Amino acid sequence: MPAPISAPRPPRATRLLRRAPAVVATLAAVLALAPWGGAGCKSREGLTVGAYLSMTGATADFGTQTKRGFDMAFEDVNHAGGVRGKPVSLVVLDTQGKADEAGNAVTRLIDVEGAVAVLGEVASSLSLVGGRICQRKGVPMISPSSTNEAVTQIGDQVFRVCFIDPFQGYVMARFAADHMHYTRVAVFRDVRNDYSVGLARAFVDEFRRTGGQIVAEQSYSAGDTDFGAQLTSMKSAAPEAIFIPGYYGDVGNIARQAKRLGLQATLLGGDGWDSPQLREIGGPDILGSYYSNHFAPDNPSPRARSFIARYRQRHGEPPTSLAAQGYDAAMMLFDAMRRAPELTPRAIRVELAKTRDFAGVTGVITMDPATRNPIKPAVVLRVAPGGDVFETTVEPVSADTLAAAADATPDRIADPSRQRPSGGGLGVFFQQLVNGLSAGSIYALIALGYTMVYGVLGLINFAHSEVFMMSAFAGFYCANWLGYRQGLPFPIAAAFAVLVFAMVAAALLGVTIERLAYRPVRNAPRLTPLITAIGVSLLLQNLGVFVFSATPRSFPSIVAESRFEIGGVVITNVKLVIFGVSIALMIGLDRFVKKTWTGKAMRAVAVNPDGRAADGRPRRPHHLAVTFALGSALAAAGGVLFGLDQTKIEPMMGVLIGLKAFVAAVLGGIGNIPGAVLGGLLIGLAEQLTAGYLSADYRDAITFVILVGVLLFRPQGLLGVVRQEKV
Ligand code: PHE
Repeated sequence: MPAPISAPRPPRATRLLRRAPAVVATLAAVLALAPWGGAGCKSREGLTVGAYLSMTGATADFGTQTKRGFDMAFEDVNHAGGVRGKPVSLVVLDTQGKADEAGNAVTRLIDVEGAVAVLGEVASSLSLVGGRICQRKGVPMISPSSTNEAVTQIGDQVFRVCFIDPFQGYVMARFAADHMHYTRVAVFRDVRNDYSVGLARAFVDEFRRTGGQIVAEQSYSAGDTDFGAQLTSMKSAAPEAIFIPGYYGDVGNIARQAKRLGLQATLLGGDGWDSPQLREIGGPDILGSYYSNHFAPDNPSPRARSFIARYRQRHGEPPTSLAAQGYDAAMMLFDAMRRAPELTPRAIRVELAKTRDFAGVTGVITMDPATRNPIKPAVVLRVAPGGDVFETTVEPVSADTLAAAADATPDRIADPSRQRPSGGGLGVFFQQLVNGLSAGSIYALIALGYTMVYGVLGLINFAHSEVFMMSAFAGFYCANWLGYRQGLPFPIAAAFAVLVFAMVAAALLGVTIERLAYRPVRNAPRLTPLITAIGVSLLLQNLGVFVFSATPRSFPSIVAESRFEIGGVVITNVKLVIFGVSIALMIGLDRFVKKTWTGKAMRAVAVNPDGRAADGRPRRPHHLAVTFALGSALAAAGGVLFGLDQTKIEPMMGVLIGLKAFVAAVLGGIGNIPGAVLGGLLIGLAEQLTAGYLSADYRDAITFVILVGVLLFRPQGLLGVVRQEKV
């Protein structure tokens, strides 16, 4: 640790401040452990049915919509006197869209809440986790909407009220071939999502059988923000349509980025698109796309119509498929309960398997007792401004037909060599370079803060990535406050105002963190500040979730989106702004550090850690404050530019990006300012080229391969100098 920087402060203030890290750490722990928006209320009388849904997180809308359907069904049954005179209560636990939380939720529903049956999840990957627990514990589960074939294959306890993905893939392949007359389609799937992988496979099988050609196969991972590399390489294959079997949040972003790159292909998808949020995130770029679903809001059946009318009255909008499926799943459960000789999980399971001709709002449900899947038709909807519009219905086909499609085309989508992006020539290469440099500029802006603070304090400021995240939100709120959605009279001035606001807010946050968390421990052993930094980082992450909610937000387009093309390389206004702002800030920083006394002092401490600048004058506390303020403001510029470019921000966004920026700082030589810029650009390029030419699956890995390489072969970093560890 560096030596004391200033004269001793008044003892009382010091004593109070010394406690700050402990307070921060405790708060962080409390916030991390608090059950945000999770538990429902439990009532001990009557019967308890458990439900597990993603009420928060990236797919929060799945849970919200489905729960509305559950709530209506529970009201209906209790209004009619319950099941055989007993009221039925619902306990909903939040999965946050995560597999481990889903497992915890189901275990708790059965063991603690005493649920006789379980409803959920929506996402197939989570139903696959929860279903196994229900199977083991002998409690029946009904998934309202999980379509992956494997879900009900878990065992005889697991049911669903929706069709399955082999059929859904068939529906969209037929739609693409017969209805749209497409022959060249690309597939873009989420590799970490069982639903997406299974649906992509079913689509490819059937589309090939129609004689169509799959011209490109690319992948992403849920929560990714940059799809440029994959989209660029798909564009070079000139598809007429891209099939994207993913969830609404990612799909909305993909649509925006695809249009920016000048991709003209029609976007096609599956039921995972079903959310009003899709139109909100995708904006005009998602309109005119098509997806398959369980239920059309303009459904003509009388039963559906009365459900739709009641739902509309209550929520002021038409129900999504999710709400309707939720309603049907719960009603089908009550129907089985009424027939069961006793209200035990075992007896209910037996009756569920016997469900025949149950009239649901999404159609008539007859459970196949062997597979526990109903046979139902699908609809295709077109994404339109006011709501999605019915396009066509596809009737069920036999399991043999679907199996024949799978047999006709041997399993090759799993073969990674086929996923390899098609090279695509020089134009594509330059496009990848432009995209890589723009991502790299953002890493560089963040890396500067790590390097400057390390240079002055010898501290790895883990909270820096959260300053980046918070400042993106500051920009988001500022832009919305200025009224960006309506379009503004002075767009350039307003965009500048958003940038400056976020930078000032971040500078204040940075200085506050330094003052409250780091300064009190500056004389403590080396480990203390490090742990404090981790504590502050966790605190801010959880504060972010608490204040902004875990649901991702769409960053307003504060820069008019237009683009031009040079030799097949698309350059958007947004990219120009990213380059312009980053270069200007970097030049400004360089000037500041070289020309001003404070800047020189900041630089000097790195090589002269005894608290004196190179010219022998003592370092003052305000040098620290200035370092934090500048570093944080640069990260804020990174945050706003990131929001502009990737369009999606959420409270956990700092974790991975911050880590990569930190690696960039290490790569360039931690403590070295030009090194951070160089490191950032190199990491951005390496990622983009890896995703574009190898596979997007390795995008994150490449950064860490580089880190290991640097640590082994050039631990001081590219531009760093070997120096004695400061203690
Ligand atoms: N079918 C999707 C899955 O299995 C979930 C889903 C259904 C999402 C319906 C939206 C609407 O993962």
